[in-house]
Amino acid sequence: MSTYKIYFSATNKTKNILDILTSKFNNILEFNIADNNIKNIDFNKDDLTFFGVPSFAGRVPVNILNSISTFNGNGSNIVLVVTYGNRAYEDTLIELYDFFIEHNFNILAMMTVITNHSIVGNIAKDRPNNNDVRDILSFGDKILNKLNSNDYRLDVKVPGNRPYKEIKVSKLDIIVNDKCIKCGLCYKLCPTNAISQTNYTINKDRCISCMRCVYNCTSHARYVSKVALDNLMSHLEKVCSEYKENEYYI
Ligand SMILES: Cc1cc2nc3c(=O)[nH]c(=O)nc-3n(C[C@H](O)[C@H](O)[C@H](O)COP(=O)(O)O)c2cc1C
Ligand code: SF4
Ligand code: SF4
Repeated sequence: MSTYKIYFSATNKTKNILDILTSKFNNILEFNIADNNIKNIDFNKDDLTFFGVPSFAGRVPVNILNSISTFNGNGSNIVLVVTYGNRAYEDTLIELYDFFIEHNFNILAMMTVITNHSIVGNIAKDRPNNNDVRDILSFGDKILNKLNSNDYRLDVKVPGNRPYKEIKVSKLDIIVNDKCIKCGLCYKLCPTNAISQTNYTINKDRCISCMRCVYNCTSHARYVSKVALDNLMSHLEKVCSEYKENEYYI
C-alpha cells in the first residue's frame, strides 16, 4: 500500500494544509504539480491519495487536471482538499470530484479550507488559526477511522454547479524592479514556463497569476503592481470580510 500527497501549491498554502492533515500518516510520497515533476503513477486498489488544489477564480487552476489526465485510480481511495482565500471556492470541489470519479478513484472524504489569500495578504491573515489546525487534525483521525472501518462510501451532495463557471482569472500585473540579482529562481519555479531565462520578464499569455515567482523571490524584486493590488483589494474587501468556516465531508 502506498500513500500519496499530490497537490498544486504555488505559495505553499495548500501544501501546509495537506501537511497538517497527513501528519499522522507515514511514508508519504509527495509531489507538487507546480514543480512539473508529476509522472504517471501506477495506483493500486489499496493505495490512499491526498489531493489538494487552491481555488483560482472558483475553479481548479488551469491545466492542472490536464497534467494528470493519465491517472487511473484503479478503485483506490482519495481525499480531496480545496483551499481558498475567504472569498468562495464555487465549482472547484465539484470539478475535482468529477475528475477523480471519471479516473476511477473512490472519493473517501473531502474538505475545503480557508487560508490567507495568496494575492492580497491581509485577507484571512490568521488562517489557518488554532481552531482550524485542531479541526484538520481531528479530520485526519476520522479518515484513519474510516479506513479501518472498511466502509469507504461518501454519501453527500457535492457543493458547486455543472456546467462549471467560466474560467476567468484576471491577469495580474507582476513587475520586476532593480533589486533583481538575476538568480534565475523565478524562471526555474514558474509552473507554466512564463518567465524569460534571459531578462526574467513575464509572458502574460502563459502566466496564470499564481504568485509563485513573487512568493519565492528572496530579493523581493518581484511584486504585483500597486494599481492592480488596489483594484483587487477594493473588490475583495466587500466579499471577503466575513468569517467563513471550513467544510468537512466524510
Ligand atoms: C490567481 C488566483 C486566484 C484566486 N482566486 C480565488 C478565489 O476565487 N476565491 C478565493 O477565495 N481565493 C482565491 N485565491 C486565493 C487562493 O485560493 C488561496 O490563497 C490558496 O490557498 C493559495 O494556495 P497555494 O499557496 O497553495 O497556491 C486566488 C489566488 C490566486 C493566486
Ligand atoms: S527570483 Fe527574483 S532575483 Fe531571482 S531572477 Fe527572479 S526576480 Fe530576479
Ligand atoms: S510568471 Fe505567472 S505563472 Fe509564472 S510563477 Fe509568476 S505568477 Fe506564476
